Parts: sequence; C-alpha cells; structure tokens
Amino acid sequence: MSKIIVAIDGYSSCGKSTIAKALAKYAGYTYVDTGAMYRAIGLYTLRHHLTETADIIAALPQIQVGFVLVDGAQHVTLNGEDVESQIRTLEVGNRASEVSTIKEVRAFLVAQQQKMGLEKGIVMDGRDIGTVVFPQAELKLFLTASPEVRAQRRYDELVEKGQQPDFAAVLADVNDRDYRDTHRAESPLRQAQDAIVVDNSNLTREEQMKVIYDLFNRYK
Ligand code: DC
Repeated sequence: MSKIIVAIDGYSSCGKSTIAKALAKYAGYTYVDTGAMYRAIGLYTLRHHLTETADIIAALPQIQVGFVLVDGAQHVTLNGEDVESQIRTLEVGNRASEVSTIKEVRAFLVAQQQKMGLEKGIVMDGRDIGTVVFPQAELKLFLTASPEVRAQRRYDELVEKGQQPDFAAVLADVNDRDYRDTHRAESPLRQAQDAIVVDNSNLTREEQMKVIYDLFNRYK
C-alpha cells in the first residue's frame, strides 16, 4: 500500500498536535511537530541572549534540532539535549513565533522537514506545511477553532503542567500570536487552496477524530 503525506496547518492551540499524533498512530506513520522545532530555536536564542536577527542567523550552524522517542512519545532535542519540557512555556512559544519570522530560520528548518518526508508515511503539523514544506501533500487539513476555545485549552494545559496562568493573558497571547503568524512576511499562516477546513470549536475529540480518520481513508 502506498504511503501519503498528511499536512496539518492551523492556528496555535487548536489541537493540531493531538490530532496529528492520533492520526499518525492510526495510520502507522511518523509524526513531526514542526512547532517544536521553532520552539527549540526560540529556546536557544533565550539561553544565549540572542535578540538581533543577524546574531540569530549567525548562530544557526551551531544549532541542531532533532527528535527522540521517550516511552513512545516524541521529544524535541536541542544539540542533543531533550528540551521537551522547557519548550512548552508561553515565553518560549512567543520567542518561537518571533524567530519564525526570520527567513533564514525558516529555510533552515524547512530543509530538514522536507528531508523527513522523502519516504512519505508522515503526518506533519505546523503553519506552512501544506503551502511551503509539502505543497504536493496528498491530504492537507486546515484546523480552526475560536480564539476563546483555544485560549481555554491552552489555559487548561498550563494548569495541568502545574503553572498558574491568567486567562486574560492567555487569550491576549493567542490573539497576538494569531496576528503575528498570519501577518509575517515570510510564509504567513494561510490555508492552502486545496486544504480541507476542520473547525473543531464544537466537536468532541471523538467526533473530530472520526472526521479526520474518514478523510485519511479517502485520500490514502
Ligand atoms: O505550534 P506551536 O505553537 O508549537 O508553534 C510555535 C510557533 O512556531 C508559532 O507561533 C509559529 C511558529 N511556527 C511556524 O512559524 N511554522 C511552523 N511550521 C510551525 C510553527
């Protein structure tokens, strides 16, 4: 049976990674969380106090981003160090959004992402997967949910991780990040013409997965 590429794009905190992970498991495919790659670079720039674009670009040859499996879960690595827990903070998310506006950072990561898809059998999520990384992907999904629903999910996730977020701040952050992701000059988040839109604001996880599995079975 031939394998396909599934490209999943959408706004932050709309459940892309949960869906992509579940679909990869269902299909027996490899899952790649590209947001984690931008977050790893964001973390590097925070640790090294790099704020100027030129300094960030100059540091790229010293940055290696990879993935390891830990108890079946994918963790991102930064120069060999498992940084999965460090990258899941608002601060790193915001920095990731900032570094992701730099053309050279995008080219650096897109090249790695394209290599990962050479043999297909991959589910990749991000912002530019169906438009830039794999414009030839057989199945492209564009996920959306209202900002309030996404802020509530992000808030619940942070609480679960032991953090004490302020809901208004989380909602403001979701709106800011949407704005930056859709208005940046380089590969802004947009729906590929041939992407299928799934608005999951009012879908349960089960309802949503049924829609996605049905689509996968139709396109594979
Ligand atoms: O999906 P996420 O929240 O982990 O992504 C963090 C940031 O990285 C997000 O604000 C935008 C950026 N990003 C991107 O520009 N392109 C991608 N393919 C994935 C993420």
